[in-house]
Amino acid sequence: MQTVLITGANRGLGLVFARRYAEAGWRVIACCRSASAELNELAGQFGTLQIEPLDVADHAAIDALAQKLAGEAIDVLLNNAGIYGKLSFADGGVEDQAFGNSDYADWQHVLRVNLFGPMKMAEAFVDHVARSEQKKIITLSSMLGSMGLNTGGGMYAYRTSKAAVNMLMHSMGHDLAARGILAIAMHPGWARTDMGGAAAEIDPEESVSGMMQVIAGLTAAQVGQLNAYDGSVLPY
Ligand SMILES: NC(=O)c1ccc[n+]([C@@H]2O[C@H](COP(=O)([O-])OP(=O)(O)OC[C@H]3O[C@@H](n4cnc5c(N)ncnc54)[C@H](OP(=O)(O)O)[C@@H]3O)[C@@H](O)[C@H]2O)c1
Repeated sequence: MQTVLITGANRGLGLVFARRYAEAGWRVIACCRSASAELNELAGQFGTLQIEPLDVADHAAIDALAQKLAGEAIDVLLNNAGIYGKLSFADGGVEDQAFGNSDYADWQHVLRVNLFGPMKMAEAFVDHVARSEQKKIITLSSMLGSMGLNTGGGMYAYRTSKAAVNMLMHSMGHDLAARGILAIAMHPGWARTDMGGAAAEIDPEESVSGMMQVIAGLTAAQVGQLNAYDGSVLPY
């Protein structure tokens, strides 16, 4: 049985990933700060889905979970948890992160969750991934972190966290190749979640279906690329 560990599995894209992998027969380690009714329901429905409390900003908690799962194999480490900043993208966050408005404490927290979170998860779980069959580390980034696609500016905290995580995954892809691990950043599309908002372009199901397909077919040639949910490759 293949195993996926998902951060932020209580809602949004993480919850859809948890359900879809469980339905596909995977063992799912669904990590979250606080389990939602929907995630608890999934755990009741699928004996192969276990819920683990985890705040990705808490490095001691990440180490403790890695220790608890010591000796186990994780085929796909899915760094999904992420934040936009104190106001969501959908609720005024674009104006909130305009030039001249910087809230540095909030920005630091965004970096702690979106950038240090995936790095700490990878460092803590690299041996679990290395002993698996598939050996994949996937981090949800965003096209908003792409310099090549940035024609509008703004959104400083979110954009810089995702640009940095693109570089992080690029380096990690090189560093872990020797251990047979495929590590990449992905853009999930603009999806209708709490973060994406109601006006977003695609359904979370479409986003997750596409990403699962890309993850399943991932090859070494895609390492070092920003892969999108629809199979396209975006410029960094
Ligand atoms: N939706 C989009 O259009 C879109 C586009 C590009 C990229 N993305 C990226 O895709 C990922 C998922 O986004 P989404 O749309 O599903 O967002 P969402 O609906 O806002 O859900 C975010 C998830 O991250 C979790 N999270 C936040 N801070 C955390 C922390 N410190 N520790 C653990 N979990 C934490 C949340 O848990 P709580 O319930 O505890 O807050 C929630 O489960 C994010 O990395 C996001 O940046 C999304």
